[in-house]
Amino acid sequence: MSNSNPAGKIWDAIILGGGAAGLMAAITAAKRGKQVLVLDHSKKPAEKIRISGGGRCNFTNLDIKPKNYLSDNPRFCISALKRYTQNDFIKWVESHHIRYHEKTLGQLFCNDSAQQIIDMLLGELRAHGGELRLHSQIKQVLREGELYSVASSSGMELARAVVVATGGKSIPKMGATSFGYDLAKQFGINVLPTRAALVPFTFSEQQKLWSVPLSGVAVDAIVKIGKTVFREGLLFTHRGLSGPSILQISSYWQEGVPVTIDLAPDVNILEELKKAREEHPKQDISNALGHILPKKLAKAIAARDGLSGHMATQSDKILRKAEENIHRWQIVPMGTEGYRTAEVTIGGIDTKELSSKTMEANNVPGLYFIGEVVDVTGHLGGYNFQWAWSSGYAAGMAL
Ligand code: FDA
Repeated sequence: MSNSNPAGKIWDAIILGGGAAGLMAAITAAKRGKQVLVLDHSKKPAEKIRISGGGRCNFTNLDIKPKNYLSDNPRFCISALKRYTQNDFIKWVESHHIRYHEKTLGQLFCNDSAQQIIDMLLGELRAHGGELRLHSQIKQVLREGELYSVASSSGMELARAVVVATGGKSIPKMGATSFGYDLAKQFGINVLPTRAALVPFTFSEQQKLWSVPLSGVAVDAIVKIGKTVFREGLLFTHRGLSGPSILQISSYWQEGVPVTIDLAPDVNILEELKKAREEHPKQDISNALGHILPKKLAKAIAARDGLSGHMATQSDKILRKAEENIHRWQIVPMGTEGYRTAEVTIGGIDTKELSSKTMEANNVPGLYFIGEVVDVTGHLGGYNFQWAWSSGYAAGMAL
């Protein structure tokens, strides 16, 4: 391994991972006059910002609350989110003249391109003297007395602190690795089990016989597991179900657990069907359902549930059953699409091991964990980037 540090430079901090959290920590520390080096194995930094929000980056949410985050310790995120808020990030974005808009439910997106957020971060890092080294696969991190040595494919470096910002396991094609979890274990830090979240559901071959022809059909839906409820769009796909409501509930789903779906919220289906029976007795029931749901879906539900014939022939019992099957459709997904398409990873570095104020490991001075690698996972809607900014800021202020 080459030594790129012949003069024996000692950095104040080396940040492992140049994504949202890593860049935020580096900028914050650099602004305070710290000498920081960011290492990332990718060709380009912050690739997830680039593809996020359909290329427009949902960079935060107007309404950030601890209840929007899943964690073994739901209170852990509070301190960091309070010290660097969505309003702080919004002000920063505004100071760079990046135009944005609220799409829905407080979600803020760039008007033009996610690249503007990346350019803002890289510009600020440069302006404050931080260094970013790409193509740097991190090989080994060792603690030697008061210092850390970091060996990467671009050489060996020494630092007083190391910040682990290598993200979760989602989308390995974009450079995601389990490096952060492995490093934590190396230092005796507990890692909670991980699983893919904000991820589409997949169906069994049997379920797909019915659902695949519906691929592309979208409805407004209420999805529920126990007391957890989301109301947003739902999309039938070739593999199962997706759309914001499904991604949200997937974070709460475990194998074998049923999901209850209301495919027509706010519609009094029984009343509508009774009215159709009275006013259009010769109408086929699948056509009557087609006034409540997208026609393709109405026909598929009618076929699946054996609903056929003129409205005049339908008893109240049948109509009630139809209502039940639309308002309370119960499915047990076969699985999820996994890390291949998941937006985030649930679980990770046990927050009991970290200071909620600084993100430093309680028992390993100078070692910090921030962003998605930590067991804090946000809902869909800008919450995960806000966690990256807030936790990155917390570490950056402590370095
Ligand atoms: P992140 O994954 O961003 O960065 C980790 C970095 O570490 C990467 O650059 C990687 O290359 C590097 N790395 C990993 N292992 C390494 C190793 N061994 N050596 C060197 N470098 C290594 N969130 C949100 O709030 N709004 C949104 O709109 C979206 N949209 C979205 C779309 C898609 C398709 C995905 C996959 C995800 C989102 N998210 C999102 C989630 C969001 O992208 C995610 O929570 C943050 O990027 C996490 O930031 P981190 O910096 O923690 O990790």
